[in-house]
Amino acid sequence: MLANRAANHELMKSSIGSAPAIVRVAPGSTQKAVSEYEVRIGPGLLRDLPVLVRKATGVSRFALIADTNVAEIYAAEVLEVLQTAGLATEVFVFPAGEMHKSRETWMELSDRLLTARFGRDSAVLAFGGGVAGDLAGFVAATYMRGLPLVQIPTSLLAMIDSSVGGKTGVDTPAGKNLIGAFHQPRLVVADTDTLASLPTAELRSGLAEAVKHGAIADADYFRWIAASTDPLLAVDASAMSRLIRRSVEIKAGVVGADEREQGQRKMLNFGHTIGHAVEALSRFELLHGEAIAIGMVIEAAIGQALGVTRPGSAAALASVLGAIGLPTALPARFDPAEVVELSRLDKKARAGRVEYALIEELGVASPGTGSFGTPVPDEAVLDALVASRPDSPP
Ligand SMILES: NC(=O)c1ccc[n+]([C@@H]2O[C@H](COP(=O)([O-])OP(=O)(O)OC[C@H]3O[C@@H](n4cnc5c(N)ncnc54)[C@H](O)[C@@H]3O)[C@@H](O)[C@H]2O)c1
Ligand SMILES: [Zn+2]
Repeated sequence: MLANRAANHELMKSSIGSAPAIVRVAPGSTQKAVSEYEVRIGPGLLRDLPVLVRKATGVSRFALIADTNVAEIYAAEVLEVLQTAGLATEVFVFPAGEMHKSRETWMELSDRLLTARFGRDSAVLAFGGGVAGDLAGFVAATYMRGLPLVQIPTSLLAMIDSSVGGKTGVDTPAGKNLIGAFHQPRLVVADTDTLASLPTAELRSGLAEAVKHGAIADADYFRWIAASTDPLLAVDASAMSRLIRRSVEIKAGVVGADEREQGQRKMLNFGHTIGHAVEALSRFELLHGEAIAIGMVIEAAIGQALGVTRPGSAAALASVLGAIGLPTALPARFDPAEVVELSRLDKKARAGRVEYALIEELGVASPGTGSFGTPVPDEAVLDALVASRPDSPP
């Protein structure tokens, strides 16, 4: 299995201190030579950006792309650091929010780079949460057939999930992430100090993805998170660095084995078939991590009912997610039948049967029918949703 127990043990024993952790990511063998990159994790790394981005990209002109929230807090500081080091940098700001991860914003940003005469001797710095990463990454993927990209994630979700793996893109009215490209970053720089300004709800939401990483690949990591919710919620630097490092290792391990989502990468969808349905049904009033927290508990219950998942897994997931402050059952205002309906629209549905990424037990993804997908009948989904309701009989 993916969990490398020896390495994990080292991680749990080591104290990360102030030296940044470095995780090397080697995407699928198809592009290995050109696209191996480092993820640097630790406090104070924004100050090291000039050396890091110059070395990673080999260029000296940079387009720093950020949303309004992140730009307001950090753009002036980062701009000064880069300009003081002699790196010509311009900041391009777009309005914060998922609704701006659009073709319109992509077009506007691209046009602004053209007007500013950015050429092939420049690079894009995607600075912010997953929206900035996906959007600026897609600008980088397409601008003059591709510019070097550095991901500088500032949300926990972006640090442990969206900045690693090379997926970039935008949403359309037909659905999320439907237009995009694979474009691997040259470097990822996760400065844990930036998490201090992240809204708590966003922090909790990011922690849901870390719980998922433990659930699909590493039982020790899962238990460590369960025992560390207090320091993690307090954004303790050492706990946070440890979490980001282990999650990045797990995600990088999965996408490195499977860059284009043919097999292993599907295990990252644990909790996401139900999660996406609940997220859509809430009209995005629930944060992504809140929706997948519900999704993981329900999908573990589905797995238990099908005999795929070890009994007790759903309860253990609900316990740690609840301690983080995330929801763990379908809220009463949502109709389970509608969730089932929406789950069938998930892009993982093949020939009308929805394939779920289930777990065998905490720390072990189920190989399913061979490619980490298990077809699940609608009735099993409905039963698990109904049983999860707070008002349902025991
Ligand atoms: N490419 C991938 O593989 C991948 C994987 C998972 C998710 N995603 C995408 O990521 C996006 C979600 O990412 P997200 O949750 O980071 O959303 P986001 O980028 O909208 O950030 C969430 C909010 O936090 C703010 N923010 C970010 N960092 C901050 C900081 N340090 N201080 C204060 N505020 C800060 C943002 O301005 C925003 O308001 C979705 O569009 C999703 O599709 C992509
Ligand atoms: Zn997710």
